[in-house]
Amino acid sequence: MRSALERLSEGLALARGAVERGGGLAPRELAALAERHGAHPDQVARYAELLGSREEVEGMLGAREGDVMRTLRANTLRVDRDELASRLEAKGASVRPYRHAPYGLVVEESPIPLAAYHEHLLGLFYIQGPASMLPVLALSPEGASRIADAAAGVGGKATQISQHNPRSPVIALDVSERKLMALKANASRLGAFNIVAYLMDARGIGSLGEFDRVLLDAPCTGEGLMPFARGRRPRPQGEVESAARVQVELLESALRSLGPGGELVYSTCSTNFEENELVVHSVLEALEDSGAGRFSLVDTGLDFGDAGAVEYAGISLPSQFRLCRRFYPHRHATEGFTICRIRRS
Ligand SMILES: C[S@@+](CC[C@H](N)C(=O)[O-])C[C@H]1O[C@@H](n2cnc3c(N)ncnc32)[C@H](O)[C@@H]1O
Repeated sequence: MRSALERLSEGLALARGAVERGGGLAPRELAALAERHGAHPDQVARYAELLGSREEVEGMLGAREGDVMRTLRANTLRVDRDELASRLEAKGASVRPYRHAPYGLVVEESPIPLAAYHEHLLGLFYIQGPASMLPVLALSPEGASRIADAAAGVGGKATQISQHNPRSPVIALDVSERKLMALKANASRLGAFNIVAYLMDARGIGSLGEFDRVLLDAPCTGEGLMPFARGRRPRPQGEVESAARVQVELLESALRSLGPGGELVYSTCSTNFEENELVVHSVLEALEDSGAGRFSLVDTGLDFGDAGAVEYAGISLPSQFRLCRRFYPHRHATEGFTICRIRRS
C-alpha cells in the first residue's frame, strides 16, 4: 500500500521530467519568455505542458492587474449588495454586480482606494478577488452544523462562511499568530461572531472531532497571483514540489476529519497541475487503498471556469477530475485559482 506522499512523489518525478524537457518549447524560447514575464523557465515549461500552446502561455504570464476584475464582497451580515452599491456610488465610485457571487460587486472606478471608504471601516464590505469568492460558494455551508476553515489566514473566507451560515461555529485554524490576530480584527469589524480561532497546525485537525464542511484554502506558491506586482516572481519546480508535499499532508488530514456525507473544498491560488489535481489524486487514491472510506469529486456548482486537467506530463487522471474548476487571468479576468469539491460517502 503506497502512501499519499509516495504517490505524489511518483507524479512529481514525471512532471519534473516534462518540465526539464521544456514542455515542448525550445530552450531559447523558454528563456526569452521567462525573462519577458519575470517568470522562472520551469514555470514557462509547466504552463507550456499544461496549456499546450505558446500563445496561451504568453496570455497567462502576460496578464496584469488591469486584466483582473477589481471586486469586493458586500457583507450581507450588515448590508445588502444594492444598498452598498448606492452608498459607494454616492461617493463617486462606479460599481456593478459581480454575476458569479450574490454579494459581489465589480468596481469599475473609484476616486479613492477601497480600504479608505468609511463603509470599509464600518464592516460593510471586504476587499476580495473575483476567484477568491468562489471556494466558499462551492462549499455551500448553509445548514451545516460543524464547519472548519483549516488554513484560515486573515479570515477572508472564514468571514464569508459566516455570511452563508452565521449561527453554526466556524473553527478557523492557522499556524500564524500574526494572521489569526488579523482574522480576529476582521471578524469583529464584519460582525462575524461565530468564528473560533485556533493557533494550530491543520495536520492535527482530527483531534477536533468530525466536521460536515471543511474548507482547505491551502498554502501554495501563489502562482495565480502573477498578474499583481506583489505576486510576480519566479517559481522554480522545487518550490512547487515542496508546496505539494505540505498540501498532501494537509488534505489527507482534512479529509479524514469529515463525517459521513461531509464535504471538503480544496482550493489554491495556483493553477499548476502539481499543486492541484495531482495533490487531490494522490490523496484520494491513498485513502481509498487504506480503507479510510469512499471519497469522490463532485460538481462545484460554480457557473463558470475551465474543467480540471486530466492529462499532464504523461499522467492520466480519471474523468471525474474534470469536475474541478480552473480560473485563469487571461481567460476569466480573475486571479489564477483552482477549486475541487470532494464528498465523503
Ligand atoms: C492561502 S492562505 C489562506 C487564506 C485565507 N483562506 C483567506 O481567505 O484569507 C493559506 C494559509 O495557510 C496557513 N498555513 C500554512 N501551513 C499551515 C498548517 N500546517 N496548518 C494550518 N495553516 C497553515 C498559512 O499561514 C496561510 O495563512
